[in-house]
Amino acid sequence: MGKIPENILNEIQDRCDIVEVISNYISLKPSGRNFKACCPFHHEKTPSFVVSPDKQIYHCFGCNSGGNVFNFIKEYEKMDFIDAVKMLAEKTGVKLPEYKSHDDQDSSVVSTLYSINDIAVNYYSNFLEKAGSSSDVKRYIVKRGLDAVVLKKFRVGYADSSWKALIDYLSGRGVKQDMILKAGLVTKGKDGAYYDLFRNRIIFPIFDARDKVVGFGARVMDEAMPKYINSPETAIYKKGLHLYGLNFAKANIKEKNFAIITEGYLDVMTCHQYGVANSIASLGTALTTEQIRLLKRYTHNVVMLYDADQAGEMASLRGLDLFLEEGMNVKIATLEKGHDPDSFLRKFGREKFDTAINKSKSLFTYKLDILKNKFDKRDPESKAEIIKEMLSTIYKVKNAIVKAEYIRLLSYELSVKEDAVWEELKKIKDKRPSDFNRSKQDVKRPIEISPAEKILTRLMLEDINVVKIVKDELKPSDFRNHDIRNIAEALFLIDTDGGLIDVGRLINSMENKVPQNVVSFIVNEEVDIKDKEKNVCDCIMSIKKENRSRLLKDIQSRLDIAQKSGYEEEEKRLLEEFNQIIKKGV
Ligand code: CTP
Ligand code: MN
Repeated sequence: MGKIPENILNEIQDRCDIVEVISNYISLKPSGRNFKACCPFHHEKTPSFVVSPDKQIYHCFGCNSGGNVFNFIKEYEKMDFIDAVKMLAEKTGVKLPEYKSHDDQDSSVVSTLYSINDIAVNYYSNFLEKAGSSSDVKRYIVKRGLDAVVLKKFRVGYADSSWKALIDYLSGRGVKQDMILKAGLVTKGKDGAYYDLFRNRIIFPIFDARDKVVGFGARVMDEAMPKYINSPETAIYKKGLHLYGLNFAKANIKEKNFAIITEGYLDVMTCHQYGVANSIASLGTALTTEQIRLLKRYTHNVVMLYDADQAGEMASLRGLDLFLEEGMNVKIATLEKGHDPDSFLRKFGREKFDTAINKSKSLFTYKLDILKNKFDKRDPESKAEIIKEMLSTIYKVKNAIVKAEYIRLLSYELSVKEDAVWEELKKIKDKRPSDFNRSKQDVKRPIEISPAEKILTRLMLEDINVVKIVKDELKPSDFRNHDIRNIAEALFLIDTDGGLIDVGRLINSMENKVPQNVVSFIVNEEVDIKDKEKNVCDCIMSIKKENRSRLLKDIQSRLDIAQKSGYEEEEKRLLEEFNQIIKKGV
């Protein structure tokens, strides 16, 4: 079965309220019969995101995303439609029929990989539990100060130095060799045979935001190189898509409305051990846009807390720009030289840690301090260099007021005329038009529907009696807009004895045919329609007239060709057709 039956979708929808579901993610404010909020799908300061409890749909008039409750979950959680349905089915207690995606093989590989990872996690953590207190691994754990609670929570494990232990264990549980390979847990030796990838290392499972183990990081217990071996990319693990610890931190991130982003596994674990429950890690220094977008679902505020070394500084500067590009508010906290969050917490404790977080600098101060150390700010060339560097970041600040304030501060700090700084900023803008395009990628294609078709469809969606009237007057093919045509088709099929039209359900019945956001756009748009009956008549008339004149124009142009080319028969036929339309009137 490739599709979830409509009745099941409807049943789930009946059992949940879109306002309640969306309220779990963003805060909605009542506005007339509807609810409003700043759109979670694009950056905005004034709310253009509307949720209609009557229609059980949402729409953003800023970026044109919209649909029913499934579409919201799908977009917000960045899930497949099927997964969104599954999630709501679980919440509402609706049982789904056994589901297999189009690509049966793919989905079964994916679920097999998840279960292999689960088995491996248990295997590794049992191994750690069983290890004697004088074993290398236990001594290392003690040395790092990780307590039992945190070890258990993060499901830390241990792989001993044998070459085949995990392979044998998995094979013994019926897992096929090629699947172990696909899970990325083995490596091919020079002799062509497969061996366990992780040996004699501490194992840190990497979770996705929904608690599923997608991969592993494995650290040596001494100074050997490489310090970490991580899972290769697999069907369920792609580098740069996950944030380590987000599954544990997401609730606290929402509660505090900010996240602390660190570099590594141990930073996150130690933070959580010390009660800093909103900390996550980018795993290495190269933060990605995908990671930022993932985080953005939970908060728009972030404190970067990278290692106090050269690499950490570089990474902070790069991360700063990325966060700004995504419209996030970002601050940078710094630690004493040579420390990372893990070592800092252990040496100085929670209070000092909190102080460091509270003292985190704005992007402005952070970057300017670094640049001032690097250049002598008195000499004009250096000044220009500092300004250029600062502007390359300030230019990405989305808020115009904040941006203006930074420009003012910058000119003050460097004793340069503000106008000159603005002029330099303009140069950057002119040079990089592509950056602007990039930030617009999220905004959906505008919806172009003629006013008559839009209003008529709106009225149909609101009242089944209007559908009846329109059905007698127009065919679906009379509508110019392709989506409206499909909506009309679906509406004309509705059992006209029924009362209200359930728009949420209608969207289910048109799945794939009409972009989810078109219906919500039409229904939620704020238009004040006074005389409904007259409007219905006018719209029908205007659509008919438009079609008629288009048809006549079309015949006319074919007639011209026929005349010029001397196709007399065709000319006669077209003339007749033309006259008949004229005679018939509208
Ligand atoms: N990392 C990696 N591979 C490496 C080095 C680092 O994948 N060879 C990633 C790991 O996710 C690591 C993070 O980068 O957690 C930060 O690196 P680093 O600061 O060197 O390691 P820590 O985890 O802080 O470990 P420790 O404190 O034990 O040195
Ligand atoms: Mn570190």
